[in-house]
Amino acid sequence: MKERLMSTTSLSALQVMQDAPVIPVIVLNDVAHAVPMARALLAGGIRMLEVTLRTPQALACIEAIAKAVPEAVVGAGTLRSKADAQAAANAGARFAVSPGYTSALGSACRDLGLPLLPGVATGGEIMAAQEDGFSALKFFPALQAGGSAMLKAWSGPFFDVKFCPTGGISLHNAPDFLALPNVLCVGGSWLVPADAMAQGDWARITHLAREAVALRA
Ligand code: 3PG
Repeated sequence: MKERLMSTTSLSALQVMQDAPVIPVIVLNDVAHAVPMARALLAGGIRMLEVTLRTPQALACIEAIAKAVPEAVVGAGTLRSKADAQAAANAGARFAVSPGYTSALGSACRDLGLPLLPGVATGGEIMAAQEDGFSALKFFPALQAGGSAMLKAWSGPFFDVKFCPTGGISLHNAPDFLALPNVLCVGGSWLVPADAMAQGDWARITHLAREAVALRA
């Protein structure tokens, strides 16, 4: 499955979610950190990288990773508008993640050929995303919005939806989520701590990535 994914040009949201047990949620403040950080995660076995559009440097970081680390699959997180989707695609993002869902964002990503993991936190939001053809969703903010109990409740009516819970997930509580049949992976920022990045402690990031990969041993 991994080899096939590397050789294809089109990617689906399901493939993004199935590649590793954790999608790292990355906040970059310095373009110089982007490539060594991506290589560190890759060395630990994580190649789907969500760089959030939360800093002025984010788009330049996505561009740098897309060019210098082709073995990684860099995506953009925190997309909230059509303009964000366009900017992410222009920078070379290969997938997108959003904290919530609007039809405008869904159709912008579809037009750009950018697989989207839309964020949802309620049944109505799941139904709106499904109406537009999205059934691989991010559950955000997972812990605050009901945690694993919420996902168990949703597995009845939304039996055909798969989730990537994100928000409040750590190495310690990730197994509770990953054990659920409707969870394909989790998202989390713990793999890329701000202090490790500031110190250039890439070995620590590789170690955190290895630990995350081992969640699905
Ligand atoms: C996100 O931005 O998707 C989440 O805020 C990440 O949540 P975490 O920092 O609790 O992992």
